[in-house]
Amino acid sequence: MQEKTITGFSRLSKNEKIEWVAQHWLQHPTEAAQLLRSFWHEDEALQRVLDGFSENTLTNYYMPFGIAPNMRINDHIYAVPMVIEESSVVAAASSAAKFWLERGGFKAEVISTTKVGQVHFTWTGDYARIQQHIAALKQRLLAEATHLTENMVKRGGGILKIEWLDMTHLEPEYHQLKVTFETCDSMGANFINSVLEQFGRTLRDFVQGMTNLPEKDRDLNIIMAILSNYTPECVVRAEVQCPVDTLKGACGDLAPLAFAKKFQKAVRIAEIDPYRATTHNKGIFNGVDAVVLATGNDFRAVEACGHTHAARDGQYRSLSHCDVSDGIFRFWMELPLALGTVGGLTKLHPLAKLSLELLGNPSAAQLMEIIVSTGLAQNFAAVRSLTTTGIQKGHMKMHLQNILNHLGASDQDKERAQQHFADKTVSFTAVREFLESGATVK
Ligand code: MEV
Repeated sequence: MQEKTITGFSRLSKNEKIEWVAQHWLQHPTEAAQLLRSFWHEDEALQRVLDGFSENTLTNYYMPFGIAPNMRINDHIYAVPMVIEESSVVAAASSAAKFWLERGGFKAEVISTTKVGQVHFTWTGDYARIQQHIAALKQRLLAEATHLTENMVKRGGGILKIEWLDMTHLEPEYHQLKVTFETCDSMGANFINSVLEQFGRTLRDFVQGMTNLPEKDRDLNIIMAILSNYTPECVVRAEVQCPVDTLKGACGDLAPLAFAKKFQKAVRIAEIDPYRATTHNKGIFNGVDAVVLATGNDFRAVEACGHTHAARDGQYRSLSHCDVSDGIFRFWMELPLALGTVGGLTKLHPLAKLSLELLGNPSAAQLMEIIVSTGLAQNFAAVRSLTTTGIQKGHMKMHLQNILNHLGASDQDKERAQQHFADKTVSFTAVREFLESGATVK
């Protein structure tokens, strides 16, 4: 037990950390240490930058960086960078992009861009009585945060609204300051959190100084100050539409109208059944997260927010919607997305920087449009496959490649295996047995 614990791990050098982990946790320490080091970047300065993104870093963990070309969004063509480890995702996004390229592309529109932060506190005083002092409080809050907000104000953002909410109907003595921000092209987490922590201090001092309050009510207890990752007022919408009879090419063996109706039904099922909705939305986030990651944004924040949005009426539902009427197929989605194209990793991670360059160095609002469209493209491709051929056909082709690579198959073996499994179910055992039965395995 003691052997497995350590004090001061973070203070060890990177090599010492690797040695400790390899010796204490891995079966073949020498090979393990070598493997970990083999993923270091040869450019030492760059490696130090990468190490600095996190703590206790041993090495880098590679993920495929791919491109979905031909994404037409608001009549602008993009080659969209995607970082994802799952096979078929980039292929599916690319195929949907190509399909819609010739049918008007994606129309995307940012609906709103504001974000929210909260100072949560307990207070025993009379809410009605504090109302007459709210204007003075707001003035002082803003004044004492000027050193934090002036740059953001120069960029066109800042604090838009401050509300004191009485939450005592939910929890005794619980109140909050709900603050609305505009953070322009930055995701704004650091800015918002710094302002909120300052607000907490100012609020406490303000109430302490209110000598007209009973003494016990001058003591206000700050519980926490933090942004909210739920951004229902930072929302973007994307839509594709085309005459039903031009859906030919997406329909498999179905006639265009039959396909359109089946597709619509599949989306409807995701609107009403949480089990299906979760998988349906997972498919959307395959696309969304891949671009969020490629551009150095926070995919956990984006996911958390998207799922809250999907459950906003009390039941978890599909994020996308479909309508087939008057001979027109329409498919759309609204998604809250808090993103940045400046700050954070966006310029620090060389590949995040390159991704943004690939996208024409977009503003945060343009990146919202690109990402919601990629999510919708991904969703279209998934539901199209599910309602026509099923997803396993395409999936298994990629899966077979991964298994063959894993087993070290030669190019000749790979070709033989691809032919063999063209009409058979792929599994790890089946592929191994096939290779063992005749082909040479390295
Ligand atoms: C797999 O990663 C994503 C899908 O399951 C999405 C869906 O079912 O809509 C194919």
